[in-house]
Amino acid sequence: MLFHSETTNGILPTNAFIRQSLGLNLFFLRIMKEHSFFLAAGFLPKDADCTQQALYFMNSFNALLTEAVVLGNGNVDLAVLCSGEVVTNMTLKAEQKTQGLSGVPLDTRLTAQEQRLVPAGEIVNPAIERNVQELNQKAIVLTRELVKFKTKILDGMLSCQLFTFNFPLLIVHIRREALLFIEQLELLQRRRAIDPGQEVFCQKVFWDLQMAEHAQLLPIC
Ligand SMILES: [Fe+2]
Repeated sequence: MLFHSETTNGILPTNAFIRQSLGLNLFFLRIMKEHSFFLAAGFLPKDADCTQQALYFMNSFNALLTEAVVLGNGNVDLAVLCSGEVVTNMTLKAEQKTQGLSGVPLDTRLTAQEQRLVPAGEIVNPAIERNVQELNQKAIVLTRELVKFKTKILDGMLSCQLFTFNFPLLIVHIRREALLFIEQLELLQRRRAIDPGQEVFCQKVFWDLQMAEHAQLLPIC
């Protein structure tokens, strides 16, 4: 995620709003969709309703990611596309393998589309501002629902009412990432300029903890 100090009197200009929103959505919507897949793959057959709910989230985030990819073509920073935070050269292969092993269909065509994204020039298309604002809002609403679902799973696990193959720490970890996504979307929706120094500090602290947890228990999340 990149946050620039492109501000006018503390208000984020349209160009920066569109770039930052699309960069943020391309990064986090994939993460939310993949986390939903982890959840779906972790329940027992008796908890099929939980599996179905997780698959609903996976498909809904996939639909929002599709919108972000369409809007992002020509409107997202080159640095974001080159960073490996949207897709890497391993994403498609990993999805194909995961699909084969789990039997859950994954949208590999969307991944191929992401690999073909064209970066923005100096100025992005201002006509998409409204669509980007709507995308941000839909992402906020859906991610809030996902946070509630993760909390329900965690509470069920901690009270020994629900079994999943995911560790409780994984649920805490992925819920924390969802909460950060909501927080950053809400800042963008208010067109709040972000203090780059403060932002770098907060992001560093947040992701250091997340990466430490990845090293503790997760190959990918
Ligand atoms: Fe993570």
